[in-house]
Amino acid sequence: MREQISLRMAQPADVAAIVALVNDYASDSVMLPISAERVMLALEDFVVAADARGRVRACGALKEYSPSLAEVASLAVARDAHGAGLGKRIVAELETLARMRGIDELFALTMTAGFFESIGYAVTERARYPEKIRRDCASCARRFGCAEVCVARVLRAGTMDCAA
Ligand SMILES: CC(C)(COP(=O)(O)OP(=O)(O)OC[C@H]1O[C@@H](n2cnc3c(N)ncnc32)[C@H](O)[C@@H]1OP(=O)(O)O)[C@@H](O)C(=O)NCCC(=O)NCCS
Repeated sequence: MREQISLRMAQPADVAAIVALVNDYASDSVMLPISAERVMLALEDFVVAADARGRVRACGALKEYSPSLAEVASLAVARDAHGAGLGKRIVAELETLARMRGIDELFALTMTAGFFESIGYAVTERARYPEKIRRDCASCARRFGCAEVCVARVLRAGTMDCAA
């Protein structure tokens, strides 16, 4: 039987688990590292998936760039929970949060474009998001050899299934 997992907004007690999840992948250069301070400051933008014992099994965040645009950021699922739909559920929850905030376009820079494509995102040019390039890419150590692919999705009010 599949484990009972529920999704909710992150709480201060989740910070250490979020940092551990993200930095586990950062050590493989799959994600950028994150600090407890940054997670704490952005806590209202984080969604977590927790098991019945309260253990955080997955997380993700909205990183806002304008009133209508945000990035799907810090998306990570525990290694032993891959393939059970948690990544898809976290992104769906972030999309709901985005709609509630009036955001109608989401993008991500990712090494796993196939995952995003399977949940309705389309590959696009990162040049569409100069705000992201200015904020993160321009100062990134990997900026001249970046292997990440840009994916995006337009969220239309009242619909749940519109790809960009
Ligand atoms: C990428 C990641 C978030 C996917 O989470 P997950 O819980 O394993 O994925 P799900 O079970 O929700 O899969 C949803 C769909 O995506 C597909 N999928 C999952 N990972 C995939 C991948 N790496 N490549 C292609 N498709 C993938 C699944 O087959 C599934 O398709 P289906 O609905 O047609 O069966 C997870 O593997 C992860 O944490 N990776 C390391 C960190 C990372 O790369 N984060 C993204 C940074 S932007």
